[in-house]
Amino acid sequence: MGGVALLIFLATIVASSHAEEIPQQIHHLRLYTGAAGSKIAGLSCLSWRFAVETDNLRDWSLVPEECEAYVGHYMLGKQYRKDCDAVAYAAIEYAENFTLAGDGLDIWVFDIDETTLSNMPYYARPEVAFGAKPYNNTAFNAWVAEGKAPVIPGSLMLYNKLLSLGFKIVFLSGTRETYREVRISNLKKVGYHAWEKLILKPDNDSSTAVVYKSSRRAELEAAGYRIIGNMGDQWSDLLGTNVGNRTFKVPDPMYYIG
Ligand SMILES: *[C@@H]1O[C@H](CO)[C@@H](O)[C@H](O)[C@H]1NC(C)=O
Ligand SMILES: *[C@@H]1O[C@H](CO)[C@@H](O)[C@H](O)[C@H]1NC(C)=O
Ligand SMILES: *[C@@H]1O[C@H](CO)[C@@H](O)[C@H](O)[C@H]1NC(C)=O
Ligand SMILES: *[C@@H]1O[C@H](CO)[C@@H](O)[C@H](O)[C@H]1NC(C)=O
Ligand SMILES: [Mg+2]
Repeated sequence: MGGVALLIFLATIVASSHAEEIPQQIHHLRLYTGAAGSKIAGLSCLSWRFAVETDNLRDWSLVPEECEAYVGHYMLGKQYRKDCDAVAYAAIEYAENFTLAGDGLDIWVFDIDETTLSNMPYYARPEVAFGAKPYNNTAFNAWVAEGKAPVIPGSLMLYNKLLSLGFKIVFLSGTRETYREVRISNLKKVGYHAWEKLILKPDNDSSTAVVYKSSRRAELEAAGYRIIGNMGDQWSDLLGTNVGNRTFKVPDPMYYIG
C-alpha cells in the first residue's frame, strides 16, 4: 500500500478534525512488502500475529521490535479494517437469525477500546510504536481524556443493526470510572448514541480483566439479562464465566490484557 492510500484510509477512520495530525505521527513508518516475513524467534510476523489472535501466545508484553513495521502496516492498511468487517458480518448473520424474546432482556455486550472505538491515533505515535514500546499509563490516559478516539466502522455497523433488531446494548470496559463523561461524549460523537448500560471499572478495583468482566456479566445475568452476543478485542473479554451465547473476537495485535 502506498502513502496516498494510507492517508485516505486514515482520513476515513479518523472521524473528524484530527486527520491532519496523523501523517506526522506515522512519519517513521516505512511500509515494505517483506514485513510479514520478518522473523522473530523463528516465526514470521504473520505467524506471530496469528498465534496472538488465536490465544496461543499469552501474557506477552510488547510487540516484537522486528514486527513493529508489520503490525503498523496491518493496522493502518486495509487488512485490519477488512478483518473487523468480517467479524461484524458474522455477528450480524448470527443476530439476524436470532429470535428475540421481546421482553427487552436480550443484550449484546461490547468492549470499548479496539472493539468499538479505535486508539490508532495514539498507537501510531513514535513513542508507542504500535505496541512495540512499553505501555505508558499516564500518556494513554491523557489520550483517553481527549475523547477523540475514532470509530471502528464495522462495529458501528453491527451496533446499528443490533439496535434495529431490538437488542439492548451494554458497553463493558476496563476504562476507569474517572473517564465516564469523556467516554460518553466520545462514544456519542462517533455514532454510538444509545445503550442500556455503560459499565466502567471502579478506580479502586485492581482485579484482572477476566475476573472484573466475568463478575459484571454475572451481575447482568442475575438481573435477568440474557447475553446473546459478546464482542471484544482481548480474549479476557471473552473468557471466564457468563461469556454469553456467542463470542466474537476482533483483531488486536498491539497489546495483551490478561
Ligand atoms: C440460522 O438458523 C438456522 C435454523 O435454526 C440454523 O440452521 C443456522 O445454522 C443459523 N445460522 C446462523 C448463522 O446462526
Ligand atoms: C509517559 O508519558 C508521560 C506523559 O506524556 C511523560 O511525561 C512520561 O515521560 C512518559 N514516561 C515514560 C517512561 O516514557
Ligand atoms: C472501592 O470503593 C467503594 C466505594 O468507596 C467501596 O465500597 C469498595 O469496597 C472499594 N473496593 C475496594 C476493592 O477497595
Ligand atoms: C444461551 O445459553 C444458555 C446457557 O448456555 C442456554 O441455556 C440458552 O438456551 C442459550 N440461548 C439460546 C437462545 O441459544
Ligand atoms: Mg478492548
